[in-house]
Amino acid sequence: MDQNALKKAVAEAALAHVEPGEILGVGTGSTANFFIEALAAMRDDIPGAVASSQATADRLKAIGIEVLDLNSVGSISVYVDGADEINAALEMIKGGGAALTREKIVAAVSRKFVCICDASKKVDGLGTFPLPVEVIPMARSYVARELVKLGGSPVYRDGVVTDNGNVILDVWNLSIDVPRRMEERINNIVGVVTNGLFALRPADVLLLGTADGVQTLRAH
Ligand code: 5RP
Repeated sequence: MDQNALKKAVAEAALAHVEPGEILGVGTGSTANFFIEALAAMRDDIPGAVASSQATADRLKAIGIEVLDLNSVGSISVYVDGADEINAALEMIKGGGAALTREKIVAAVSRKFVCICDASKKVDGLGTFPLPVEVIPMARSYVARELVKLGGSPVYRDGVVTDNGNVILDVWNLSIDVPRRMEERINNIVGVVTNGLFALRPADVLLLGTADGVQTLRAH
């Protein structure tokens, strides 16, 4: 089975977690795009959705789902999104698609986070995938120097501007032994908007696409 077939399978499996009549949160990336395609079949059951990026908002509107401003929404029942890496505690690295800040905000407001991934994303330890960090443009060099002090090798993602008007540093070679602690340390650097560690708010459920079918995993 190729990677896209696994992504499609988990995207379709995620429909079982969508609560009819409730506001839904929708993530960003190729796996989330398969989920949006599958969601078209449930469009009449969904009163509205909060999108984690402009790209996702456009796709939701195209299938006839109303996109809501998060400020008009009290809480979100379920957030469905992919990840770049995920461990057994369902802590993740996200932000490969540069949408990490809005993804983290929507995840924070959601009662349940369902992560959808193909098997290649499941890892024993986080950090082989370079950690995306969204940074206020004027602070880019300062933040990069601070990330070097943490043992990382930051690389400016040239030409990318986030939906929030900021830039991305991708940090290689970080030793992420305790993901929550690293998330907090990077958050404390002035000029950092968000880092792509999702450990303080991990996923609640992982739907993992494998050659043997979709596995449902919970944190342990
Ligand atoms: C975007 C993300 C995505 O969830 C992550 O990059 C996974 O993407 P894909 O489903 O295309 O593999 O965090 O910012």
